[in-house]
Formats: sequence, structure tokens, C-alpha cells
Amino acid sequence: MVAGREDVTRTLSRATLKKRSIFLSKALGMHTTLESVLSGLARLVTAIAGLALALTDLPALAGEQPELVERGRRIFETVAGIGCKACHGPFAEGKVGPTNRGVNEATIREALAKIGPMQFLREQLGDEDIKRVAAYTEWMGRHLLVKALLKRGRFIPEAVSIYPGTPVQLVIENAGSEPATIAADGIQVASPTIPARDIVSIVWTAPQTESKSTLACSDCKIKDGTLTIEVTKAAKPYTPPPQPKVVAQP
Ligand code: HEC
Repeated sequence: MVAGREDVTRTLSRATLKKRSIFLSKALGMHTTLESVLSGLARLVTAIAGLALALTDLPALAGEQPELVERGRRIFETVAGIGCKACHGPFAEGKVGPTNRGVNEATIREALAKIGPMQFLREQLGDEDIKRVAAYTEWMGRHLLVKALLKRGRFIPEAVSIYPGTPVQLVIENAGSEPATIAADGIQVASPTIPARDIVSIVWTAPQTESKSTLACSDCKIKDGTLTIEVTKAAKPYTPPPQPKVVAQP
């Protein structure tokens, strides 16, 4: 494959990982006075909190091959400097091109061969890269995409219904100019802080039992808005999208 953005991203994140582990080993280092033990502990807690936050970005938490899925995600977002997402949407929900959630390796190969606007990608993607990106699109296909917008302390929509046991990719966009911390009540998810005008992806599997939980913004100026997630058998069960038939386009 041609050295492109993907490689750079990979190297960059390796460097970040290295920095993190240095940070961690420093935090774990020997301390003699009580004070330094305590500050060491505090740093360790910060380091762990930082790691947990970094992990919420990974779609792989519930995946079978986290490493492969994560590599695929990077390709999907960066290949040729624009990523598949430029045409298929940041979460493969569809844009100028159709949704890519659930497409498999064979379908992607067919599209690369038959779709004119995708020709320039042939040179950019090695055999392994296609497998990686397919691992990610298939991972997305197994997850129901739920999108919410956080605007002036309110969530749009304010409520969603999800069938019990559904694996969910919950994507929250912070439309505001201040960072927003999401606090969950009733579900076990990390509490990510979404930077201003940024998006966070939370991966979560709905419990098998019916339940109701809420998400709120804990540091927004207006706090009365919530997103209610109702897990109910009345919701439509999620079925992964069928494999599309690729129609050649010059
Ligand atoms: C420059 C825009 C562009 C980029 C970048 C792009 N695609 Fe596409 N892709 C399209 C268009 C347009 C179509 C659909 C054409 C049609 O429906 O006739 C398509 C179709 C597809 C299809 C067939 C799906 C279907 O429902 O017919 C797959 C699979 C696909 N793309 C995967 C990818 C993947 C994976 C990447 C990144 C490696 C990618 N595409 C990057 C524009 C793009």
C-alpha cells in the first residue's frame, strides 16, 4: 500500500500509547514519603481515568477482534486523506454514497472494482487493509446506530426505545462551544467529556431485561435536558442490514 495518512495515524497513535505507558509506569514508580505515595496514587487514578476515556472511543470494546476492528476504523476514517467517511458518512450511515454498515469484504471488493468514484482508492488499499476495513463495517452492522445531538443542554431526540439485548453504538454530538460531560444514570458506561463541536461514540449492549435509564450533561449551563433510553420489548428488534447488491457505476 502507498504510504498515506493511515500509516501516519498508526505511528502517531503508537507514540501516544508509548507516552501513556511511560506516564503509567511513572505513576506506579517507587515513592518513599507518604505525600509522594498519595500524589503517586492521585496520578495513577488520573492515568487510569485517562485510559478509560481513551477506550470509550474504541468501537472494539464489545467486538471479537478489537485490534482488527480498530485498525479498520482508522482506515475508514483516513484512507487517501479523506476516508470512506467522506462519502459514506462518519458512522457509515450514508452520505453521497449509501450506508456501509454491515458490508462485508466481498461487497467492498466489488465496489472498489465497479464504482467509478471509488477507483482512486484501489491503489491506496492493500489486501490486508480491505480485510481490516471490512472487520469495521461488519462490526458496525452488528450494532444499532443511535444518534443524538446535544444542543443548549438538551438532547435531540429526548428519548429512544431499544429492544432488550441489542448491541448499540450511541453517538452523541456536542453542538455547543464548551466541552460537555455525559453522566449516565442506570447504565454502565464511561462518562466521556465531549469536546466542543465534537462527537463521541459510546458502545453499549442493552440489558436483557426491560429498563429505563437517562443520560444527562453534568457540566452544561442548562441542565434540565436528558436523553431517556428505554429498553423495551415494544421496540423494534434490531436486524443487521442485508448485504447490498453492488450496481456498477462509471
Ligand atoms: C469519493 C466518494 C467515495 C469514497 C471515498 C468511498 N466510496 Fe464507496 N461508494 C461511493 C458511491 C457514490 C457509491 C454508490 C454508487 C451507487 O449507489 O450507484 C459507493 C458504493 C459503495 C459500496 C456498495 C454499497 C451499495 O450499497 O451499493 C461499498 C461496499 C462501498 N462503497 C464501500 C466503500 C469503502 C469501504 C470505502 C473506503 C475504503 C469507500 N466506499 C469509499 C462513493 C465513495
